[in-house]
Amino acid sequence: MAIITKVCDEAAGIKTFTLEFKEPEIQKSFDYRPGQFVELTVFGVGEAPISITSSPVNKGYLELTVAAVGKVTRALHLRKEKDVAGLRGPYGNGFPFDEVKGKNILFVGGGIGAAPLRSLINQMFAYRDNFAKISILYGAREPGLLCFIDDLEGWGKTENSEVLLTVDAPDAKWRGNVGVVGSLLPKIDIDIKNTVAFICGPPIMIHFVLLDLLKMGFEEEQIITTMERRMECGVGKCGHCNIGKSYVCLDGPVFSYHQLRELGEDI
Ligand SMILES: Cc1cc2nc3c(=O)[nH]c(=O)nc-3n(C[C@H](O)[C@H](O)[C@H](O)COP(=O)(O)OP(=O)(O)OC[C@H]3O[C@@H](n4cnc5c(N)ncnc54)[C@H](O)[C@@H]3O)c2cc1C
Ligand code: FES
Repeated sequence: MAIITKVCDEAAGIKTFTLEFKEPEIQKSFDYRPGQFVELTVFGVGEAPISITSSPVNKGYLELTVAAVGKVTRALHLRKEKDVAGLRGPYGNGFPFDEVKGKNILFVGGGIGAAPLRSLINQMFAYRDNFAKISILYGAREPGLLCFIDDLEGWGKTENSEVLLTVDAPDAKWRGNVGVVGSLLPKIDIDIKNTVAFICGPPIMIHFVLLDLLKMGFEEEQIITTMERRMECGVGKCGHCNIGKSYVCLDGPVFSYHQLRELGEDI
């Protein structure tokens, strides 16, 4: 059982909820890796898998960024501070961290798909000296759908880091790039051989960014992404989320493109 301690409007139809476990002992011992998710219960309505968007470096609370798209998420959007929700987890494998130390890191995110990336980016910025250049490319359909504006501003001001934004459909105030997030790739200057790319977003975005990265010379092992599947149990019991012989809830949701190809999934 967790208490909602804060609700923020993140973007159009998207809210970020801060939660604390009711039992202080559980809150203290709850540890996770960026890229892992929880099963969130809105009591009387149901359960949905949601990525943890806060960084494990920030102890004492969890943040979940949620788009109101269906039964559970719409009901959650009606919840207020001091209301109670259920959380079980953390589940899934999470992103590699120690394994990519010393490398350039390229993040490519789309819309609310950046929620798990935010957790990893903040963890990396907490240990900034362990990584070479960090490039963050982020896009949304329109300016009102860009999430994590304060984080993006902070990341962009850090040495040896860059943030490039784009939208598909600008409004009158937009002065930045217009186009899909892949259109930002030619604007970055990195040594591809020493770079690992993390891509999160809608499947169509992942598909096209992946093609762009392969064309730029990235190897399959250098591309890490997350897979979304309709999940029920989250713990490898119901069989809803398999890709080949793997369950996304247990062996994923984070996979390298190489692993996905070996599983027969060509995204
Ligand atoms: C690992 C993981 C992490 C995730 N992280 C996040 C996150 O951080 N934030 C976030 O907002 N979402 C996240 N999601 C997505 C979220 O779990 C889904 O959108 C979930 O379905 C929402 O539950 P709901 O009850 O609100 O919506 P649902 O009622 O399940 O509906 C969601 C959408 O799916 C459609 N749908 C409903 N039933 C079916 C069906 N049987 N087959 C196909 N489509 C159907 C609906 O039309 C609607 O568009 C994540 C999903 C996974 C697997
Ligand atoms: S969600 Fe049940 S097996 Fe993965």
